Amino acid sequence: MRKPIIAGNWKMNKRLSEAKTFAESLIPLVNTINDCDIIIAPPFTYLSALDDILKSSSISLSAQTMSHELAGAFTGDISAVMITDCGCKYVIIGHSEQRLYHQETNQACQEKCKVAMQNKLTPIYCVGESLKERTNNITLTVIQKQILECITDLPLDSQEIIIAYEPVWAIGTGKVATPEEAQAVHQFIRQTIEKAKGTEIANKTRILYGGSVKPANIEDLINQADIDGALVGGACLELDSFVELIKKTNYVTH
Ligand code: 13P
Repeated sequence: MRKPIIAGNWKMNKRLSEAKTFAESLIPLVNTINDCDIIIAPPFTYLSALDDILKSSSISLSAQTMSHELAGAFTGDISAVMITDCGCKYVIIGHSEQRLYHQETNQACQEKCKVAMQNKLTPIYCVGESLKERTNNITLTVIQKQILECITDLPLDSQEIIIAYEPVWAIGTGKVATPEEAQAVHQFIRQTIEKAKGTEIANKTRILYGGSVKPANIEDLINQADIDGALVGGACLELDSFVELIKKTNYVTH
């Protein structure tokens, strides 16, 4: 049984006061939710303040990225221990915006996931094809490479990784993959994990969909056999739509 997840990736949004108000308001709205894991990923600078607010709730914190280095002369970078000190249980690795603007490679993602796991963080590892790659019919080749180059050496028998399939052409565009298109890729990701790591690990790995997820399309997505929740951008910034996504996901377990 895989418990579904709704994870909100705030990206570079909100002021500190808005972040605190959001977290304070969210807690009473989701305190009866037991069957869906709720994660929010705010900017680094808000983690500590939000940890103070959320620590007695079931809402978990994630960072949006991290360095693969533990400490030293790396100006501007943030390490795994720094984000765990701020209350994070999760870290997003390999988001397409990090791949695009910070040249994050599959190899770098593998290093980061390894260090994250060594520091008791669960990586939310993002994969996804560009529009050009989809048009050229190489979606599955791209996804397979992204998955295998990251997970092959990770200790998934003892630690969890969460995969987020986020087709780049669906992020922030309003163009959501159809449930069938998304399911086909999710199923392929699970088969790829199975070949690399065995059936048990493949069956327990949660695979989220991301890219223009909204309250209006979440149910059709989450009802697909291999879609275990969503990594949400735009629709997680408003309290109402984030809570609606959580409530609509609370009853679906694959
Ligand atoms: P949108 O939901 O805004 O398309 O963003 C998706 C995303 O990038 C989540 O990480």
